[in-house]
Amino acid sequence: MEVVIAKNYDEMSKIATNIIRDQILKKPNSVLGLATGGTPVGTYKELVRMHKQEGLDFSKVITFNLDEYLGIPDDHPERYMNFMKSNLFNQINIRPDAIHVPTNIWEHVEEFCQWYEDEIDKAGGIDLQLLGIGPDGHIAFNEPTSSFASRTRVKTLDESTIKANARFFNNDESKVPKYAVTMGVGTILEAKTLLLLANGKKKAGIVAQFIEGPITSMITASALQLHPKPIVVLDEDSASDLKLKDYFKWVYSNKPKKYLEEQ
Ligand code: PGA
Repeated sequence: MEVVIAKNYDEMSKIATNIIRDQILKKPNSVLGLATGGTPVGTYKELVRMHKQEGLDFSKVITFNLDEYLGIPDDHPERYMNFMKSNLFNQINIRPDAIHVPTNIWEHVEEFCQWYEDEIDKAGGIDLQLLGIGPDGHIAFNEPTSSFASRTRVKTLDESTIKANARFFNNDESKVPKYAVTMGVGTILEAKTLLLLANGKKKAGIVAQFIEGPITSMITASALQLHPKPIVVLDEDSASDLKLKDYFKWVYSNKPKKYLEEQ
């Protein structure tokens, strides 16, 4: 696992954005897996800046978001489709028909989940999947004990996730939807590159566990240990409990130049 430790949130976001930019430059019709939550907001801001100031072109890019709340009203600002429009899609030149965010409605949800998996396959699979990590170690909404073979499906949110996400719902836990459609761990593991971001002291414990602890479905982010190309970009605070912190810094600062250029 490649672990990059940035000075702070802004540097973390810039490193992540450069990885995404390089992916798009290498393959203009890249299939990107996208994430929501507080963590990637700085990355999306920087991508928008690159589009506006440097002409980063999204016209051939295809996107699939990880998850969506079920039952959330269509016009709710925390509906992930709306979050993505305001933070990214409305500010770049992506084709509307290239955007995929899971459904927010219960009707035909099982058929939807199968359709979503099929669309990812038809697009040729995800080239680069952006991920955050929840306080319980989840990736997407794959809560503890989610099977590592799981596919896109309905999940019930863990109470710790509802508590953590209440900040986006006026701190009212009763307003946070209890259910979501989420890509499975198995779906995520099929992406060619995984790029997980974490920042802040609150994430330090769970970050150390998923990177240095055992592979366990109790912490679904630990499934990254099974992936051929996982990149984790942290800020100093979220990296503070890592035993191998100095090693990771040493490896990154000694990365062969040619290899860095190819990344
Ligand atoms: P956050 O959420 O980016 O808002 O911390 C991450 C997650 O729950 O996956």
